[in-house]
Amino acid sequence: MTFSDPHSYADVEQGRTRHIDFTLAVDFAQKTIRGTATYTIDRPVTGSFFLDTRDVKIEGVRGVSGEASDIAWELDAVDQVMGQRLHLKDMPGLTHFTINFKTAPGASALQWLDPAQTAGGRHPYLFSQCQAIHGRSVFPCQDSPSVRFTYTAAVTVPAPLNAVMSAARTAVDQDGTTTTCRFEMPQAIPSYLFAIAVGNLTHRDLGERSRIYAEPETIDDGAREFAGTEKMITEAEKLFGPYIWDRFDMLLMPPSFPYGGMENPRLTFLTPTLVVGDRSMVNVVVHELAHSWTGNLVTNATWEDFWLNEGWTVYAERRILEILEGQDYAQLKGVLRRNSMLEDMKLFGFDSDPTKLNYSQKGIDPDEVFSTIPYEKGAAFITLFEQAVGRDVFDPFIRQYIETFKFQSLTTKGFVAFLEKELPAAAAKVNIDQWLYEPGFPDDAPHLESTLLQDVDALVAVFDAGRKPMPENVQGWKPEQIELFLKKLPEKIPAEDCRAFQELFGLKESRNNNHLVAYYCTAIRSGCEEALAGVEKILSTVGRMLYLKPLYRALVETEWSKPKARTLFEHNRAAYHPIAAGGIERILKEAGL
Ligand code: BES
Ligand code: ZN
Repeated sequence: MTFSDPHSYADVEQGRTRHIDFTLAVDFAQKTIRGTATYTIDRPVTGSFFLDTRDVKIEGVRGVSGEASDIAWELDAVDQVMGQRLHLKDMPGLTHFTINFKTAPGASALQWLDPAQTAGGRHPYLFSQCQAIHGRSVFPCQDSPSVRFTYTAAVTVPAPLNAVMSAARTAVDQDGTTTTCRFEMPQAIPSYLFAIAVGNLTHRDLGERSRIYAEPETIDDGAREFAGTEKMITEAEKLFGPYIWDRFDMLLMPPSFPYGGMENPRLTFLTPTLVVGDRSMVNVVVHELAHSWTGNLVTNATWEDFWLNEGWTVYAERRILEILEGQDYAQLKGVLRRNSMLEDMKLFGFDSDPTKLNYSQKGIDPDEVFSTIPYEKGAAFITLFEQAVGRDVFDPFIRQYIETFKFQSLTTKGFVAFLEKELPAAAAKVNIDQWLYEPGFPDDAPHLESTLLQDVDALVAVFDAGRKPMPENVQGWKPEQIELFLKKLPEKIPAEDCRAFQELFGLKESRNNNHLVAYYCTAIRSGCEEALAGVEKILSTVGRMLYLKPLYRALVETEWSKPKARTLFEHNRAAYHPIAAGGIERILKEAGL
């Protein structure tokens, strides 16, 4: 049986993309990227060649080897999840062809920001988010993680803006009213790791091989928050082998970036909500860095194997964090995230498909089933193998795993086969089929333990006993302890307790959205209507889905706030990334709004 990806029209039997040379012109007035892409395929293509697109306008297809002639093409019917197949017809044995195209203003990967949505407030901004299947809205591609290509690009943007990509920037040429940036990506990547951002960007070096890009207004705070990056790379290399992407740069995004971080090779994208001043969220950098091995080198073959990317990366993140911050801290983070996973399982239903690590996603939009389940259930699954044989045996296995599958894609079955062959003792001790193919969270999951939990539990007991928590109870607490405590509060508490907690944890002045969102969700459910102003502030200034979704969920689930939810969303919708807007729309629709 030939391999197939349920989320792509690509037929790798026709050939695989090996390289793409882009010429891109970014037009902020039209909210469009006009592009020329020249594809190199790994064999001469005869007959049909299929590419994925979504809302991309095709302006022409030409062959470039030998005679430049027009190639016949057709866009097939629109599929809500997959987009539109671009069918190149009667290919006369070509290895190279060129497509001229234009992106749509509503392209699902792209967000076009008005100056008011940036830190500087004076220049527009553009960024992409291609994972999982949005790359096809930027350029026609074999949009499957099982196809890898190198790329080069020349990107023209209006001066004084400049562009960055998931690639090496080799030149920045100023030409009066425009700037042209040139890029080279020598390491082959799947389409979901293609990335571009355009804005008034400056940069600051953090180390030999890492630098931060940001608007001038945020670069100082960003550089301070992420000063520890070089150390993270060094520690990661000790565990997983050499860092092969040359550089690990980061782009501090505008607030509407829908994720915490995105592991775009050579240029991780980071939400500005990580910049809290105390470095308590730099584990997200560790996570994205860890993808340099698990995900970007060893890549999930399809989005049905997403747990291979994220489960391994959470495991790797925790190993690095353990070295940098100690086991107590790493496990406390683990407890918080496992609790979130159990919440997600409750939302989907403990018996539902999305609680399985692997299940058929044909016809299912990956964004719709995105959750922390592949992350935490996946990491727990990997940890079981580690515990079965001990780190002395497991660590060499990790390096062998990466070495064996680097620059390749891997299916869930492929992983199991490798494990059973190379580490049979571990495979024998774990109920692999249950963990992979059955719903819910198995009872034999590794236990998480941290002495930092004790103070939190003690304070929960104080509150449950009807006593008032005092400042001395929380003195010296880590931000994660506060977060855990806030999340452990009952669904509803008296309004005066809401006010007391706001005071106790200094939430009026806090920049920590882990705290604020946990608090506001409780406040909403508790009928504390005065919290609405604070909620609105987050809804209108933050685009990270991790924060928006729980707030909207709390709003629609509570009687007093439910009628306000749709209006709040419509008010802010234009400022949200298309992916975030889509996610919130689903929450409102499910609530009948
Ligand atoms: N690759 C993901 C983000 C992603 C996943 C984007 C699926 C689109 C589709 C990234 O590595 C990630 O997991 N980010 C987390 C960080 C966290 C788990 C530390 C996030 O955004 O919160
Ligand atoms: Zn990740």
